[in-house]
Amino acid sequence: MTVDLLLGLQWGDEGKGKIVDVLTSKYDIIARFQGGPNAGHTLEFDGIKHVLRTIPSGIFHENSINIIGNGVVMDPVVFQKELEGLGKFNIDIKSRLLISRKAHLILPTHRLLDAASEASKGKAKIGSTLKGIGPTYMDKTGRNGIRVGDIELADFEARYRALADKHQAMISFYDVDLQYNLKELEDEFFTAVKALKELTFIDSEEYLNNAMKNGKSILAEGAQGSLLDIDFGTYPFVTSSTTTAAGACTGLGIAPNKVKDVFGIFKAYTTRVGSGPFPTELFDEVGATMAKVGNEFGAVTGRARRCGWLDLVALKYAVQVNGVTQLYMMKGDVLSGFETLKVCTAYEYKGEKIDHLPYNIEPENVTPVYVEKKGWKADLTEMTSFDELPIEFKEYIEFIEKELEVPIKVISVGPDRKQTIIK
Ligand code: GDP
Ligand code: IMO
Ligand code: MG
Repeated sequence: MTVDLLLGLQWGDEGKGKIVDVLTSKYDIIARFQGGPNAGHTLEFDGIKHVLRTIPSGIFHENSINIIGNGVVMDPVVFQKELEGLGKFNIDIKSRLLISRKAHLILPTHRLLDAASEASKGKAKIGSTLKGIGPTYMDKTGRNGIRVGDIELADFEARYRALADKHQAMISFYDVDLQYNLKELEDEFFTAVKALKELTFIDSEEYLNNAMKNGKSILAEGAQGSLLDIDFGTYPFVTSSTTTAAGACTGLGIAPNKVKDVFGIFKAYTTRVGSGPFPTELFDEVGATMAKVGNEFGAVTGRARRCGWLDLVALKYAVQVNGVTQLYMMKGDVLSGFETLKVCTAYEYKGEKIDHLPYNIEPENVTPVYVEKKGWKADLTEMTSFDELPIEFKEYIEFIEKELEVPIKVISVGPDRKQTIIK
């Protein structure tokens, strides 16, 4: 069998968690391939709202295996809290959740380094979630990292000490006032590592390739979004992993020729949390309404998400980089009530009109060119079939499909599992 990928096409928070949960019954295995606890994937069903951080979004389904792949970075402390949150759901975590020995560990000092780095940047800060993601991937690529499999080694504590000591020396290089009690942080870390050790560690690339040989189906769950990708995102205001389709191959050990469908998820408008350019950002009442109706607050940090119109230039770029075969449109319900909607179809760049994402998309370099679409008044949240949707919303969908040359197969009209229309 083959693998399908599910990825965010914007700056994250597109609704990946919801859709993975909706799709899980069709797959044997759900596998996270990159990112870490900077992710917050929200699932809603049976009146319950749950935010997952490192654990794949298929965890609530009895018949699915969930894998944390080698490309993920794990913080044992956050992970332990996540497990505690799942406690009341009676999930057999030891058999349903498998963790790659090659996934890297986030140490308390990685989090401190993240904080020191951000503080030292002042106004130029990335707006990181401060979960230690950047420093941990730096240690990975710098060949200094500690992996989940190292927990099983006799000298794990010595390895930890050597790296943590190095980090402390690095922290002192930053000219910032960082208050912390390392002893407390380390006690918490080692308690969490002990709990983590109780779970099942695997050689996940072996497991997944065997599963494929045995006819099992796999859905790879992305975190963040394409515009936060370390290579293709709005660098340096990005995360430190490959959030695009290629990341699923390196983050799981799956060959490119095994990938079948790539599901690209996007909001009917655009949001971004943290710093960095955002050409279609709105600073007026319209943006405020999107934020309010869409409840646009970060699932991890609680920060207000910046809101703006749909940007087809950026989306086209993401569709191309990922090889998207099907589009899933989220949060169309949030746009109900606007008289007209704007969609960005091109940028003015150095006196020219262009329809691709250029190297610089800061406000001084690009001005979005918009087309206007007629809005709709109806509340979409109770609608269950494509036919019921207002004509203006259908036209909005058709316009996007035509521009992106990929069909929109799923339309989400609310946060609940049930508020999902398959076209
Ligand atoms: P993820 O990181 O991509 O999984 O997305 P988040 O969970 O961070 O953010 C998406 C937010 O939108 C969550 O609060 C979801 O419950 C909510 N959501 C998802 N789909 C819809 C939708 O179609 N309509 C509305 N109104 N909310 C949605
Ligand atoms: P999910 O999976 C939205 C953003 C941060 C910051 C930048 C770098 O829930 O969609 P980092 O902590 O990685 O150093 O932050 O990336 N960011 C996200 N924004 N959704 C996410 O994940 C994000 N993960 C990181 O706000 O701008
Ligand atoms: Mg999120």
